[in-house]
Amino acid sequence: MENFTYWNPTKLIFGKGQLENLTVEIPKYGKRVLLVYGGGSIKKSGLYEKTIQYLNQIDAEVFELSGVEPNPRITTVRKGVDICKREGVDFLLAVGGGSVIDCTKAIAAGAKYDGDAWDLITKKAKITDALPFGTVLTLAATGSEMNAGSVITNWETQEKYGWGSPYVFPKFSILDPVNTFTVPRDQTIYGIVDMMSHVFEHYFHHEENTLLQDRMCESLLVTVMETAPKLLNDLESYEHRATILYNGTMALNGMVSMGYQGDWATHNIEHAVSAVYDIPHGGGLAILFPNWMKHTLHVKPERFAQLAQRVFEIDPIGKTVEEIGLAGIDKLRQFWNSIGAPSRLADYQIDDSKLEVMADKAMIYGEFGRFKKLNKEDVLTIYRNSL
Ligand code: NZQ
Ligand code: ZN
Repeated sequence: MENFTYWNPTKLIFGKGQLENLTVEIPKYGKRVLLVYGGGSIKKSGLYEKTIQYLNQIDAEVFELSGVEPNPRITTVRKGVDICKREGVDFLLAVGGGSVIDCTKAIAAGAKYDGDAWDLITKKAKITDALPFGTVLTLAATGSEMNAGSVITNWETQEKYGWGSPYVFPKFSILDPVNTFTVPRDQTIYGIVDMMSHVFEHYFHHEENTLLQDRMCESLLVTVMETAPKLLNDLESYEHRATILYNGTMALNGMVSMGYQGDWATHNIEHAVSAVYDIPHGGGLAILFPNWMKHTLHVKPERFAQLAQRVFEIDPIGKTVEEIGLAGIDKLRQFWNSIGAPSRLADYQIDDSKLEVMADKAMIYGEFGRFKKLNKEDVLTIYRNSL
């Protein structure tokens, strides 16, 4: 285990009826509030109206930025930054899924920067401050509600990059499972794939003595796999929505990844696909992750075998370590197929015409992946095996 310091300042407020905490939390930061949301799901569900009621109760002066896209765009970030600078906004409130939260993080940092916010995403400029913000999460998936990461797309240049800064931890996040009842079936599936993928990104590393971390990761995976089919049979089950919601946060708030660093290559490979084709992040991961696993199985087969036995209940008898690992990967593919996740790039009408373009985008910062360093040929192989 490596030395580590764990610090996560986000106040997590979980459960039914917790929205009213807005009236306690926001006044700590000011009155001029920019409300950031997506394409309208919060208006349909009634969450917008309830949020406005609470904001009115505290006499907040509310500005709005709506229409944040799934795979949020820098153009929308720029609009938000303009509002913050023009109106002297004190606090931002993100109400939505990971895209709305990620966009809000970029606006919060951009509002404290004199140049173009894209400089912050591409690491051309250092983030030295950000406006405070809170979130009301409506979709279990990214963990953005309790981490300091964000992913922003530049559609003009077809680039999509992750970035992060300790300045962009949410001050608080309100997670009421009821607010996720209306998440459609496909987005629920993508969220499940995404949170499982975060655990896989952690799980493959070269650190020794991570016994507790391994067990925590495995618990998250087993819990999602037990719960997902039940939730998909009953999308308005409070119990199952709550389990999945909590799971999504725990998968990427640093709690299960202390003392080692995970791989994170598959996220990079997926971001290059959604930069070019604008597909849902979880859908892309469902296609790519098993193929990354097959490509890297040889690096440390015993790690894959451990996962296969503990999570996918593979019987090791009569199998080599590699065969056990491979059986686990096949079981993952079967599980994702069984819940209706996509399995081939062709499911999104993606053919081999832009594989080079995507691979070049994935390679922008050079070779990547901590478990196995991938070069362009590796990336192309994973794409080809995913067609
Ligand atoms: O825009 P609205 O109308 O709100 O609709 C959204 C959107 O169309 C809808 N939705 C959200 N909550 C809903 C709902 N529909 C009905 N009822 C609700 N309660 O779902 C659609 C997808 O929303 P989005 O926010 O895009 O999904 P998600 O939370 O999966 O976020 C995906 C983005 O997060 C990035 C991804 O790359 C992608 O850009 N990621 C961010 C991470 C982070 N910050 O830590 C890590 C992840 O690995 C990921 O890369
Ligand atoms: Zn993800």
